[in-house]
Amino acid sequence: MEFTIKSGSPEKQRSACVVAGVFDNRKLSLSAELIDRASNGYISEIIRRGDMEGKLGATLLLHNVRGTLADRVLLVGLGKERDFRDREFRSAIRSAVKLLNETGSYEAVLYLTEEKVKRREVVWRVEHAVVVAMEAVYRFEQMKSQPTEVRRPLRKLTLSVPQRSDLTAGEAAAARGLAIAHGMDLARDLGNLPGNVCTPAYLGERATQLGAEFPDIGVKVLERKECEELGMGSFLSVTNGSEQPPRFIVLEYMKSVRKAKPCVLVGKGITFDTGGISLKPGLDMDQMKFDMCGAASVLGTFRAIAEMKAQVNVVGLIPACENMPSGRATKPGDIVTSMSGQTIEILNTDAEGRLILADALTYAERYEPEAVVDIATLTGAMVISLGHVASGLFSNNETLARALLTAGDDAYDRAWQLPMWDDYQEGLASNFADFANISGRAGGSITAACFLSRFAKKYEWAHLDIAGTAWKEGKEKGATGRPVPLLTTWLLAREAPA
Ligand code: BES
Ligand code: MN
Ligand code: ZN
Repeated sequence: MEFTIKSGSPEKQRSACVVAGVFDNRKLSLSAELIDRASNGYISEIIRRGDMEGKLGATLLLHNVRGTLADRVLLVGLGKERDFRDREFRSAIRSAVKLLNETGSYEAVLYLTEEKVKRREVVWRVEHAVVVAMEAVYRFEQMKSQPTEVRRPLRKLTLSVPQRSDLTAGEAAAARGLAIAHGMDLARDLGNLPGNVCTPAYLGERATQLGAEFPDIGVKVLERKECEELGMGSFLSVTNGSEQPPRFIVLEYMKSVRKAKPCVLVGKGITFDTGGISLKPGLDMDQMKFDMCGAASVLGTFRAIAEMKAQVNVVGLIPACENMPSGRATKPGDIVTSMSGQTIEILNTDAEGRLILADALTYAERYEPEAVVDIATLTGAMVISLGHVASGLFSNNETLARALLTAGDDAYDRAWQLPMWDDYQEGLASNFADFANISGRAGGSITAACFLSRFAKKYEWAHLDIAGTAWKEGKEKGATGRPVPLLTTWLLAREAPA
């Protein structure tokens, strides 16, 4: 989809559709008011008849509204004016775009971006309108023999800003939104692909492709032999049961103007998690194709920053493999030596994410990073504690944690911090190795983070557990592209503090 920014009166737009908001209860927004005046009170007449109360997300499509130059006027409910915040703004945009995409308009002029949102400026509204619009029209149909055709898909959206002086900043915001949306699309596509297509080798190929498409991104894909030479005994122990060879993907994007050390993003890339010998139950096991969504979010974030030509230094590290049972698979009780030299007693082969991240965190040391953030669908317990709304955040540095929480809030891709006190470390004790890979069931997400912290002592580090936020279940089952918005927003804010 294409986006442009414009400033002007709604009744004067020569367009297939003009979109204007109505607040609950029947209160016209400024743009709806202008259309009302131009049409001699047609809008208020319709509203008086009770066809549009202004309830959040309600839509009413009108044709040939007199006094206007557009073919259609779409009224969108915005809910109560004093409750109009991030969530309401995004939900109104989503309703409008879904309807436009399913009806006859190829293009439209959206006036919802003119509505005031508490705490947010016009650039925020434009950026988010673009992200939400792209999210709303996303479809994953590459595996269907006959993709369903959208008859007249929405091709072009014009976003209206209140003043001509907002145009330049608005255009930059739209470009940022589009880059984030493209990053999310990539992360969603990779997440949605089945495990038999999206293998570790496939992830490596897609990373290489990304580097070809964006020459600012350097890509290196390590194979098993190189990982062995690096001493990645923890990572490689997870691949033992699989016929699919592992990959360790390294991405580098160095465009900061301040010659800084890079931030490192580490993404969990388990392309399918059966649990290994500690086999998972059958119910919903198909969802474990999403166990590489951390990796996908790293690739998506690289796509976003490269498209923006952002002036940042970032390294991406993706340990990728399958977790399968077999005669050669790692067994409970096996002890492995990690790249850090620390030995690990693998008491449960289903706690594999932390095993592959451990060696990637050690590999990160060579960059002397400013900060390291790992992103992983790490624990089922995360879904129990925070549900599908917030990602879990853990960190050994409060300033870094704050910055990530703020970025998540700004990007509407929120995280919530959980404690990492040393008291939680005790459960990992082992009689046979330096420590074990699991603790009891209690506080499972925190003890998993504690395990990772033992490999992240040499730098500022944070861990995002995205088990509840990386994909949706049910009717809308599919990858979400989170936390690409959070990560991208965080990287940009680091270079240009507000
Ligand atoms: N990939 C899973 C975590 C997961 C499970 C994410 C369900 C989303 C939904 C991870 O590898 C795993 O299996 N974790 C175990 C850890 C346990 C064995 C300590 C879990 O959460 O059950
Ligand atoms: Mn597992
Ligand atoms: Zn897993």
